[in-house]
Amino acid sequence: MSDNNPQILIEIAAKAKEKAYAPYSEFKVGASLLTTGGNIYSGCNIENASYGLSVCAERVALFKALSEGEREFLAIAIVGDNKEFCYPCGACRQVLAEFSPELEIITGQPEGKIKKHKLSELLPENFRLK
Ligand code: THU
Repeated sequence: MSDNNPQILIEIAAKAKEKAYAPYSEFKVGASLLTTGGNIYSGCNIENASYGLSVCAERVALFKALSEGEREFLAIAIVGDNKEFCYPCGACRQVLAEFSPELEIITGQPEGKIKKHKLSELLPENFRLK
């Protein structure tokens, strides 16, 4: 990835965050996922009155991409609802690792600092059947 792309992905994630449905936590999250082919899929968190059915922004973005036939990813950007860096939850890390264990995780805000990590750093030894 070029140096400019993380910023672009963060901006797309911030835009996706505006669509979040988070009336219970009131914590909106946006994510944007870059495929190896250069396509970008975005997602926001979608909550439910039955709280456990809520889905994180990262998995919404990933499932949108997967359902379009995508399988290989380079990076995901995540924008949370406050100035803190928003990192993917454990469940999302595992689901992302199924496809791209070396995925680049980018977190930050459009006007702020950005942090980058490899998914394998945030989830070492992810569960695999083989
Ligand atoms: N959430 C995300 O969408 N992504 C994260 O990385 C962390 C948490 C959502 C789940 C829930 O809708 C809200 O943020 C508060 O936990």
